[in-house]
Amino acid sequence: MKEPQHEALAAAIRAGGAITVLTGAGVSAASGVPTFRGQDGLWRSFPAEQLATAEAFDQDPALVWEWYAWRRALVAAAQPNAAHRVLADWSCRPDADVRIVTQNVDDLHVRAGTVRLVRLHGSLWELACRNRCATAPPTWPDLRVPLPVMPPRCPHCGGLARPAVVWFGESLPADALADAIDATRCRLFLAVGTSALVHPAAGLIGMAREHGAFTVEINPETTAASGGVDLALTGRAEVVLPQLDELAFGLPSD
Ligand code: OAD
Repeated sequence: MKEPQHEALAAAIRAGGAITVLTGAGVSAASGVPTFRGQDGLWRSFPAEQLATAEAFDQDPALVWEWYAWRRALVAAAQPNAAHRVLADWSCRPDADVRIVTQNVDDLHVRAGTVRLVRLHGSLWELACRNRCATAPPTWPDLRVPLPVMPPRCPHCGGLARPAVVWFGESLPADALADAIDATRCRLFLAVGTSALVHPAAGLIGMAREHGAFTVEINPETTAASGGVDLALTGRAEVVLPQLDELAFGLPSD
């Protein structure tokens, strides 16, 4: 990959300044975690939109929990890939001003050692009380695979527990959204592995552009964002990011 646009982008990454990377499910694809849309996104023929709602949960908590338990088991057996590792390296570089804003709930960025991570959609590894009972904390960690009781219960009120992820129709955690919006004030904004269909996350790309950032997409497919970015790079995150890293900093990160 020695095309001028890659060289120029690598130079911009090397130059430093505020860099924000918005990531989506495509970043975890090489770890074996299925994306949400497209054929591999279907779980027993249910699209994510039909399972990731409070209504679906209330109608059939066992079914929705089965989907989340399947995803928790899959992610527990998965490892961060080269894309997660490069982004973690960038975030840890001395004098780095790099923020990773992720829509992913798998925590593979966390396991790769990313610092300054904004998790917009929560985490598969945290639970919350469905009834938001007064005695339970807003969320609590639970890393057990498999969960001993299905569907799991709130340890405080005995009602149903839910995954502490953002479902369709729900608001994003206010602090995470504020941090993500703040991160759109940057010099360089990369959108990696997202279909850019789900808002407000997808809107961050346009916001960054309005703030004067140079916006780049990295995705093997054309997306809703492709037409609106300054540079659309066609390729897989786990391939393109290590190439950019090598061009920018010289040493392969693997
Ligand atoms: P999607 O499943 O909508 O899109 C995944 C994107 O990744 C697509 O554009 C693919 O082309 C791209 N892709 C696939 N393999 C890739 C690879 N190896 N490298 C780079 N890109 C690749 O996932 P998101 O955009 O993340 O919400 O979806 C947004 C939200 O919708 C998710 O956070 C989730 C879902 O419902 C919640 O869980 C709240």
